[in-house]
Amino acid sequence: MSFSNGSPSVDLPVYSGSIGPDVIDIRKLYAQTGMFTYDPGFLSTAACQSAITYIDGDKGELLYRGYPIEQLATHCDFMETCHLLLYGNLPDAKGKAAFTRNVTQHTMVNEQMQFFLRGFRRDAHPMAIMTGLVGALSAFYHDSTDINNPEHREISAIRLIAKLPTLVAMAYKYSIGQPFMYPKNDLSYAGNFLHMMFATPCEPYVVNPVIERALDRIFVLHADHEQNASTSTVRLCGSSGTNPFAAIAAGVACLWGPAHGGANEACLNMLEEIQAMGGISKVGEFMSQVKDKNSGVKLMGFGHRVYKNYDPRAKLMQETCNEVLAAMGLENDPLFKLAKALEKIALEDDYFVSRKLYPNVDFYSGIVQRAIGIPVKLFTGIFALARTVGWIAQLNEMIGDPEYKIGRPRQLFTGAERRDVVEISKR
Ligand code: CMC
Repeated sequence: MSFSNGSPSVDLPVYSGSIGPDVIDIRKLYAQTGMFTYDPGFLSTAACQSAITYIDGDKGELLYRGYPIEQLATHCDFMETCHLLLYGNLPDAKGKAAFTRNVTQHTMVNEQMQFFLRGFRRDAHPMAIMTGLVGALSAFYHDSTDINNPEHREISAIRLIAKLPTLVAMAYKYSIGQPFMYPKNDLSYAGNFLHMMFATPCEPYVVNPVIERALDRIFVLHADHEQNASTSTVRLCGSSGTNPFAAIAAGVACLWGPAHGGANEACLNMLEEIQAMGGISKVGEFMSQVKDKNSGVKLMGFGHRVYKNYDPRAKLMQETCNEVLAAMGLENDPLFKLAKALEKIALEDDYFVSRKLYPNVDFYSGIVQRAIGIPVKLFTGIFALARTVGWIAQLNEMIGDPEYKIGRPRQLFTGAERRDVVEISKR
């Protein structure tokens, strides 16, 4: 590698993964040259090695442990996907039943959690509540907080996957003033979540199988996405040796942002705003704002750091959207029509085409969730619930990696050089 400042060139090792770009090992660069690398936003930096998820952004391909997302979304459910992400293989029927039973046995949360929850304002954003509740799990489950103990890592993984739906549903019930519904372990993972969300103690609740399947697919599609902002946050947080619940809480906090998981909420709000402005007839006006760099308006649910062709999750989500709306007699849903019109216009517009901006998973997930009856503010909470398995799989992979070190990025310092403090009366 040669340098523009005249420093002598150095040879650096290059490693190949099983697929994807090779990486240059720069770990000894500072020792050899006295220089750091500079890569804000990690545009060219691999911060770890991982065998979990692979994305080919140019092909629009997403693989969990080698399996294409289209096949997983069609042939497997969320429990199989969790097993795959955590342990590296798809379970057989017996293994799936044992794993599901294990998760099911941990769906309840400590009864004391509800008193902690009651400390929040009823109008608190669910992601504020989730950040607090997930972090607070470490105060309730002391027997699984040692990240260096493989048994603790295993049990905390199962607990997190099992308890997140319970916590999200509790946050929702609290916001509308209804009693919490305990988990029902004879239901599927998605079915149990729907029951905790929408049942009341007064009447029997029957899970709609179309909605159950749609929700399960939402979970599968969001389960992992390699080294995105929240996953990298979980890895960095966990690299200090903190407990898994604290590390996952950090991931929840990161996911909340509108450039990341918060985009599904922002996207639906955007569609509702355009609808209120006059709907499809106002799309042109809205697009002009999006293209005007001074407006600060973005087309939410569009664009991705890695996908430069198409987000395969968006295609599957659009399919699910069609199914759910048809099952609920909402084929003419104006927001769905508006979303399709926006997508069509964007895909033909040079601004989007030249920047390789395509719909991402969040473009249609909000419409599906809204049709299911999930309030807009809870969308990102559902994303967090689904992504928890990815976060914990990545965290456990990191801890088990003999090359893992505490994460400690370097900086290009641009502030004041050393100077002396002047006494306050003389400043
Ligand atoms: N609307 C309008 N312009 C956009 C958009 C958009 N949604 N996304 C990117 N651009 C423009 C951007 O202004 C830039 O233009 P220019 O080259 O003229 O300065 C160009 O496209 C490249 O964008 P970038 O900001 O350099 O790309 P990035 O990789 O840093 O950002 C992103 C990726 C997802 C943060 C961004 O596309 C975005 O903010 N999208 C909207 C939010 C969203 O939908 N996020 C969900 C991502 S998928 C789910 C998840 O992983 O959480």
